[in-house]
Amino acid sequence: MSDTPSRSHGRKSIRPTLKPRSLMDTPEELVNAWQAQVITLFPEAFPGILGHSLTGKALQEGKWQLTPIPLREFGEGKHRNVDDTPAGGGAGMVLRPDVMGRAIDVAAQSARPGAPLIYLSPRGRPFTQEMAQDLAQRPGVTLICGRFEGLDQRVIDHYQIAEVSLGDFVLTGGEIAAQALLDATVRLLPGVLGNAASTEEESFSDGLLEHPQYTRPAEWEGRGIPEVLTSGNHGKIADWRRAMSEEITKARRPDLWEAYQARLKG
Ligand SMILES: C[S@@+](CC[C@H](N)C(=O)[O-])C[C@H]1O[C@@H](n2cnc3c(N)ncnc32)[C@H](O)[C@@H]1O
Repeated sequence: MSDTPSRSHGRKSIRPTLKPRSLMDTPEELVNAWQAQVITLFPEAFPGILGHSLTGKALQEGKWQLTPIPLREFGEGKHRNVDDTPAGGGAGMVLRPDVMGRAIDVAAQSARPGAPLIYLSPRGRPFTQEMAQDLAQRPGVTLICGRFEGLDQRVIDHYQIAEVSLGDFVLTGGEIAAQALLDATVRLLPGVLGNAASTEEESFSDGLLEHPQYTRPAEWEGRGIPEVLTSGNHGKIADWRRAMSEEITKARRPDLWEAYQARLKG
């Protein structure tokens, strides 16, 4: 059994236990908080970067709640084994379905109704801003962080787990991917960002990449700021920004540009 206590980050700390927590045990101010549960072999990696800056402040304020679920505690035997060799041979180890199943069952007892179960996986659907917006509308999420060669397929099939990828590369484990997904989602929750308008104007919010940004000093290394931005003419500034967004999207992301144009036509 892991010596690492299972802690719920935010206003309330939870003692290590395999007994499922119910919403009844949750302090009243957190009952409606957006809830993230993360099944992981490295509970101490959480909240990690999410404990800092705006996501950290929101966690402290109870705008969202984070509960790592230590997979090791559900392991087999004296050594709490969680993995075994791949059927059919080959390199590496695979996370056992019975062990993961027990962790999922415990997570399910505390999960908010309607919170999806997601396995971070390079084979998954690529994570997008749209998915972050969708998750932020839901009551929370339960995330599964893989390790080694990943999860036994039967557990994915049995619980009909959605697979989500951070991109076309392979990480050592799902923890960094989980933190990225949570960061992108939590910043969209009401009251987390000071200036709500900033999420409406940034990359992907309208299907385009963001225009270039500038700040003081007015001149740096012989480079000035585009004149239009200091003109005070808000109409012209908006036109310039839109034109730059379109130019950058067209050049860098033909896939987004095509979808954007199709939306304009349709
Ligand atoms: C070494 S990877 C397993 C890779 C797997 N054998 C494959 O080829 O698809 C271990 C774990 O890291 C996580 N992971 C790796 N790359 C990821 C990505 N691009 N997006 C999300 N999670 C990822 C997953 O949870 C995965 O189970």
